[in-house]
Amino acid sequence: MLPKALIAAGTALQLLGLASAGFWESTTHLFRQAPVELPQPPIEARMIVHENEWGVLSTISHKVPGVPFGNVLSYSDGPRGKSWGRPFFYMRSDDPTAQDARANSNASLAVTEAQTGSCRQRHYDEEDPNCARLALAGRLLEVPAAELPSAHEALFSRHPQMIDWPPNHHFVAFELHIESIRMLDQYGPHIEISADDYYSATLHESP
Ligand SMILES: *[C@@H]1O[C@H](CO)[C@@H](O)[C@H](O)[C@H]1NC(C)=O
Repeated sequence: MLPKALIAAGTALQLLGLASAGFWESTTHLFRQAPVELPQPPIEARMIVHENEWGVLSTISHKVPGVPFGNVLSYSDGPRGKSWGRPFFYMRSDDPTAQDARANSNASLAVTEAQTGSCRQRHYDEEDPNCARLALAGRLLEVPAAELPSAHEALFSRHPQMIDWPPNHHFVAFELHIESIRMLDQYGPHIEISADDYYSATLHESP
């Protein structure tokens, strides 16, 4: 069964004539006949962020000063079909990434369309510019108490195992507050996407 929200998102994009051939094939098989035009960059970025369940989150290491530390982490930008575009993470309080973020909140999340399987399906290498990828940079901050219900809704719906992670490991929710985005989705230079355009893009029809 197809998730209803995916169909909604797909339909919205198809109506706009924005769906890219192959982009959704791996998950929905809906768009084999879709036009080859790519979605608007902010929408495409939001689609990739929403489709994926994990990414590489890089911080400036406090252990090896000045050196980036990339960590493979699960994340969620909202329950499936309810993309908020806000990447939430759940990690042990003593995770190196959490420790780095407390010392220096500058962080960058890398995600790629390849994670959905659609690049190999279209015979594109992961580094081929046709295989869209992006880096979202900003501030990695602990989620304040008032926002925890949203963070937990986003995380636990996409990563049900997290609900049972042991409380004595002190898991903490973080959010990457995005300030700049660079995306490569075709031949040519990386595209800059403003945080405003990214956050205000509408991915799904209103619930
Ligand atoms: C974080 O990044 C900003 C640029 O966005 C830079 O001005 C600032 O110095 C960085 N902070 C630290 C602690 O490295």
